[in-house]
Amino acid sequence: MAANIDAETLTSEVLQSWAQTPDERLRQILGSLTTHLHSFVQEVAPTIQEWDQAIDFLTKTGKTCTDVRQEFILLSDVLGVSMLVETINGQETPDATDSTVLGPFHMVESPGRALGDDISPESEGPRCVVSGRILSVDGSPIPNAVIDIWQADTKGFYDVQQPGTQSIGNGRALLRSDSDGQFHFRSVVPMYYPIPTDGPVGKLLLATARHPFRPAHIHFLVTAPGYRELTTHIFIGGSDYIDSDTVFAVKTSLVKDFRENPDPDDAAHYGVQSPFRHGHFDIVLHPEH
Ligand code: BEZ
Ligand code: FE
Repeated sequence: MAANIDAETLTSEVLQSWAQTPDERLRQILGSLTTHLHSFVQEVAPTIQEWDQAIDFLTKTGKTCTDVRQEFILLSDVLGVSMLVETINGQETPDATDSTVLGPFHMVESPGRALGDDISPESEGPRCVVSGRILSVDGSPIPNAVIDIWQADTKGFYDVQQPGTQSIGNGRALLRSDSDGQFHFRSVVPMYYPIPTDGPVGKLLLATARHPFRPAHIHFLVTAPGYRELTTHIFIGGSDYIDSDTVFAVKTSLVKDFRENPDPDDAAHYGVQSPFRHGHFDIVLHPEH
């Protein structure tokens, strides 16, 4: 590098330094990263102190990560990058159910349960029923699809957040769709909840006067041979924060009413007390090729 290098020459020298990268995609990514990062730094013109602060923030973000805590994913979430990546990839499969973020709470294996089971047996509160079908984009049912489900309880807590209060597996299930692609389960209607705020991402939200809440939702990860895996949620219509999810993950197609069903025969059919709330969610998968 020449002495007295100017900013423009510096950027082009860094770009040039990647030129021999054998992997074409990696070369493209590093080139774009360099261009955008240098232009960001040019625009912001950080002081040395501010740059130290930025490095310190990223260092703390890394140090906050453990086997059960992924602060970098949380950072990507609150910056809207996780959702941007989801959205870009979802453009390839416009006829499938919209995807949304995985989130950090898919960290333990869900217990296998039978169709119709209560997936939150340790949670208090009135029961709801969630039913739907797993379908291909042509409308045909997909039998035997694996449906991984996880949710918070009526106070907004996942099992993994309450050791000693909830057992691991409460609020979770691995179900299989039946021969007609259908599934249903009993549970409690989850509540909205804050993302973890005791780390650097929480400090960022505080410093920017942003709330940390996600609207009430139930996570689904659906797999079936020959189909693309789908990571999504069903959002509970009318939940607080439905219009201001702190991770920008709400898509209107995923918001479903959980209407009260007053019919005692329906309640008996599902094995719940009458009246109960019922959400319906058909999930459309896109063939792999
Ligand atoms: C979740 O829904 O579990 C979640 C998603 C993104 C950040 C934090 C939590
Ligand atoms: Fe969640």
